[in-house]
Amino acid sequence: MAYMGTRTFDIATMPRGGPNASCLDRRLETQRPEYLDRDDVDDRKRAVVRSLDRFGRLFGHHEMFARIALEEIADVADPKILELGSGHGGLSRALLEQHPTAQVTVTDVEPASVAAIAAGDLGSHPRATVREMDATTIDAPDGYYDLAVFVMSFHHLPPPLASRVFAEGTRAARKLLIIDLPRPPSPLHILQLASMLPLTVVLPFAHDGFISSLRAYSPSALRALAAHADPAIHVELRGGGLFNLPVRPRPQIVVASRR
Ligand SMILES: C[S@@+](CC[C@H](N)C(=O)[O-])C[C@H]1O[C@@H](n2cnc3c(N)ncnc32)[C@H](O)[C@@H]1O
Repeated sequence: MAYMGTRTFDIATMPRGGPNASCLDRRLETQRPEYLDRDDVDDRKRAVVRSLDRFGRLFGHHEMFARIALEEIADVADPKILELGSGHGGLSRALLEQHPTAQVTVTDVEPASVAAIAAGDLGSHPRATVREMDATTIDAPDGYYDLAVFVMSFHHLPPPLASRVFAEGTRAARKLLIIDLPRPPSPLHILQLASMLPLTVVLPFAHDGFISSLRAYSPSALRALAAHADPAIHVELRGGGLFNLPVRPRPQIVVASRR
């Protein structure tokens, strides 16, 4: 049970829109898995990962997210960074390019993604380590990393596991940075979903994007997940503006740390 104000609620059934989500917002959710979450659609899964990397390079997302991450550790001379849910390694590559001494551990829970990253340039980069890791059970001692970063992946986890990421990320790293899709106000959300719907049948990337949007957590949900993990976790939220588009990304940014 979690306590928010005077009310208690079960974190496992918390809506993605947060404990006080409206009736309409509660309907804009799904239990349907993305291709990325399934074990029976390898081709489509790889297609989504490739598209994420392609979009990230085309629209400069990797560079932009790397700048946001490095700003969080500007006071550390030779930072140790953990990338969780890396997928394709685009962010880690940008981190290594933008910081001359950073050591980056590039990880994902999906063995095929880790194998593909390890087979590329990051596998032999002198400042990179590529390995499999689950963001909910980070294999590192307390405070080992200066920063743990989890980009466009948090919404994949149901509330109890998402809350574990707050616990684990702020245990293994001094700061946890989560960058994810924003959850728009319901009327705008419906319009966005309606515009995406026709593409979901032809493009694996759009299929997963549609489901991701339904699974995005609101600011109040993010605060509740962190508080459930440990009330001592301090959360700073920014970004998450309206009209989040690939050409003009306005992701939800969360910086969490232990007080
Ligand atoms: C939408 S992709 C994002 C990939 C990349 N970070 C990006 O921004 O393009 C989500 C990634 O999260 C990974 N993932 C899902 N659950 C995870 C978990 N429990 N621990 C670590 N990674 C996870 C998936 O394997 C997938 O690579």
